[in-house]
Amino acid sequence: MKRDPICGMTVNPATALHAERDGETHFFCGDDCLQQFLNASAASQRAGPCVIVIFGASGDLTKRKLLPALCNLVAGGLLSEDFAIIGVGRTEWSDNDFRQQMREAIAEFATQKMDPALWTNIEQRLRYCSGSYTDPETYQRLSTMLEESNAKQHTSGNALFYLSVPPISFAPIAQQLHASGLLKEVPPVWRRLVIEKPFGHDLASARELNATLSASLAESQIFRIDHYLGKETAQNLLVFRLGNSMIEPVWNRTFIDHVEITAAESIGIEGRAAFYETAGAFRDMMQTHMLMLLALITMEPPASLSGEAVRNEKAKLLEAIRIPKPEDVMRDTVRGQYGPGEIAGKPIDGYAEEPGVSLGSTVETFAAAKLWIDNWRWAGVPFYLRTGKRLARRVTEIVVHFKSPPLSLFGGTECSPLGPNLLIMHIQPEEGITLQMRAKTPGPTIHTQAVTLDFDYSQFGKTPPTTGYEKLLYDAITGDGTLFHRSDMVEAAWKIADPILSTWASNPRKHLPIYAPGTWGPSNADQLLADDGQWWTA
Ligand code: BG6
Repeated sequence: MKRDPICGMTVNPATALHAERDGETHFFCGDDCLQQFLNASAASQRAGPCVIVIFGASGDLTKRKLLPALCNLVAGGLLSEDFAIIGVGRTEWSDNDFRQQMREAIAEFATQKMDPALWTNIEQRLRYCSGSYTDPETYQRLSTMLEESNAKQHTSGNALFYLSVPPISFAPIAQQLHASGLLKEVPPVWRRLVIEKPFGHDLASARELNATLSASLAESQIFRIDHYLGKETAQNLLVFRLGNSMIEPVWNRTFIDHVEITAAESIGIEGRAAFYETAGAFRDMMQTHMLMLLALITMEPPASLSGEAVRNEKAKLLEAIRIPKPEDVMRDTVRGQYGPGEIAGKPIDGYAEEPGVSLGSTVETFAAAKLWIDNWRWAGVPFYLRTGKRLARRVTEIVVHFKSPPLSLFGGTECSPLGPNLLIMHIQPEEGITLQMRAKTPGPTIHTQAVTLDFDYSQFGKTPPTTGYEKLLYDAITGDGTLFHRSDMVEAAWKIADPILSTWASNPRKHLPIYAPGTWGPSNADQLLADDGQWWTA
């Protein structure tokens, strides 16, 4: 039995809620005590004062993710008590309209029960600045509001500008913020800019965007956000690799045969045709989230956990991915588009029928690729990546296939063939890690069977549901860039994407199979692995 550190009650560790602090596990009688404990822990990690300025504040992301995430940070005691939130948008709203909109958004999208007193505190710190993103007057009004927040909420002049706007507005906003002096840092005052993907449309436009941004800001002020890296399970990848001494020695070409990364979605484009028509599955998921997951699991151990040390290793890894030639693209990549069909008896429109999709669109909703990393650790190990919409189920996972034992010692009449060990890192919706090994089944003769050693995130106990943006917002406010993309990482990822996209673009209809919704995509994707004697695990 253990004692609850808050109320002193005796609790049973087998069933009690628990939380870690300084390497020690503490057990609690219920939610209230756990929350008090977490709040006390958070107080020591509370971010400094600042104003969070959200461009595109009338959009979906603000309502669904950003505001609920900020509320969770406030509730968890991780945001300074001296904060303010200013929404900027083209919609003509007053402060009160904005507050009303956000109140409704919180009622609908908050992931945790909102304490009314807490909401009242947050609501009175919300302001709204309406205007065009290219009009200097918008920035003058914003500047005045920042000064007012400074005076009223004691935000110390610090500001985080979050661009939740279409990419076409990234550069104009950065330029206007710069021109109006709003990006100027006079230490200890800081000013930072968070931008959402896509970071460019290809290598040339990414370089242009990086150049425009760097004319207005230092790289240390730019936070290119990737919500995938905010997922708990994605953050665990490095900890799992580098925090367990039995993993790293086998994490290389000598022991690993190949790796699969799947990010499958069962949903379609959800009314986002305008964006998706310019993106497609490769730009939307592969060039961003999936290459970054690949970098996380394959990069060399950093010298420290500082943002720069981690990002240096990621950038080095991305630079080592072999840039495919057109013939490699034709052989080693697959794309497809979902056609009409049914999922669970419900009729589903094909991509081509989705509202807003252009007639005869050749945009891919599925992409798969075999990639190689030309460095000492990974030479000769294929990495198979696939992503798609309207697939059989929602699953993101990384499957590491180890090499088979060197000698088939149990080969012979009575024995099942020995399969390789698999390590499956479940990113979502299941969150955990499975290690698949072989064991002898009971009985007088030797038969082997795959058995699994499982770790499920729920073993950490009940954790309050989040939006996935809390960690990223907190890191941006505290100036930790570890999980954000640096300009060289973005450009390295485009160097791999560009030849694939341009080869596809020059053969728009060729090899664009239509796949049925609710399946695992075009059969060529299975063939890609079958040609190597492999198959997708999911
Ligand atoms: C976004 C893509 O970045 O990630 C979407 O633009 C995709 O198309 C989404 O649906 C998937 O994110 P998650 O967290 O739901 O897997």
